[in-house]
Amino acid sequence: MRPLDPLSSIKIKLGVVIVASVAVTAVGHTLGLRAGMPLVAVALGSGALSLLMVQFLAHGMTSPLREMVAAAKNMARGDYSSRVTATSRDEVGELARAFNAMASELAQVDRMRRDLVANVSHELRTPISALQAMLENLIDEVVEPDPETFATMLQQVQRLGRLVNQLLDLSRLESGTVPLQYSTFSVRGLLEQAGREARMHSQDVQLKVEVTPDGMTADADPERIHQVLYNLIENAIRHSPAGAPITVSAHRSDSNVTLTVADEGPGIPEDEASRVFERFYRSDAARSSTQGGTGLGLAIARWIVELHEGSIQVDTTAPHGCKMVVELPA
Ligand SMILES: Nc1ncnc2c1ncn2[C@@H]1O[C@H](COP(=O)(O)OP(=O)(O)O)[C@@H](O)[C@H]1O
Ligand SMILES: [Mg+2]
Repeated sequence: MRPLDPLSSIKIKLGVVIVASVAVTAVGHTLGLRAGMPLVAVALGSGALSLLMVQFLAHGMTSPLREMVAAAKNMARGDYSSRVTATSRDEVGELARAFNAMASELAQVDRMRRDLVANVSHELRTPISALQAMLENLIDEVVEPDPETFATMLQQVQRLGRLVNQLLDLSRLESGTVPLQYSTFSVRGLLEQAGREARMHSQDVQLKVEVTPDGMTADADPERIHQVLYNLIENAIRHSPAGAPITVSAHRSDSNVTLTVADEGPGIPEDEASRVFERFYRSDAARSSTQGGTGLGLAIARWIVELHEGSIQVDTTAPHGCKMVVELPA
């Protein structure tokens, strides 16, 4: 039990403790003298009473501080699970709550870091194992060194290269070491260029580019926005049926430039709509397909858009297919 928990300030608490203990001392003193007790006994008795009073009232006032010391030591050892009792409403209570919030935040960051390491190792191991198996077969002359084998090996190496590049990109974006280089560019030009590049891997794509107003420009880092669009269009191409149209559009309102990429594929279910932006997140279908990506494309896109202080999301109201919406401040 902490009797002074409802009070909202340490000063008031100390005031209450002092007044109460002085009052107890005075009452004890008076009663003791009236009962004819010797002065020394009265003084000792009322002193003890006052100490008891302080002990009772001030109970728990500083214990969160001691708990914090213990928890901070645990954290330094890498254990983020300790929490501090934060029932009081004063400054110590506030500090305890802030401390608990910080501890949860750190615990989450630590979990994400572990997940990241696990994911990265897994993603790197897959193509490396495949390459190793193929090379062993070649050396043991189990398979012929034909162009098809080499092409498959090249694919695995390209996959490794892509993964490492994306990881580097993501870490540079997250650490903020590459500042954005703002400039004014033609939106249509950028959309068309990203479309052309993303199409290089598959010819059978109908890409529609719609820009209103037609000659509009945007003020952002064109290199980075190109990367976002490329990732979105590449996803759209990969997920939509052959020959189905993909619409890339841009329009501008007073405060925003909105870029959208829409396809006629299976779309993204509502419950996955926010998870697809997590690093390494892939739907089960994408995970099992052999030519799938790394699951980093949308994570990179979100970082870039957020660096521009914009937002990116899946339009879950789209009736069919997948529609990605990027909003950039104009
Ligand atoms: N246009 C789309 N249609 C359907 N699903 C999509 C689309 N774009 C992305 N996704 C889903 O989001 C996941 C994450 O995308 P992304 O980060 O680009 O990774 P990757 O493309 O490497 O799989 C994909 O694996 C897929 O499940
Ligand atoms: Mg992708």
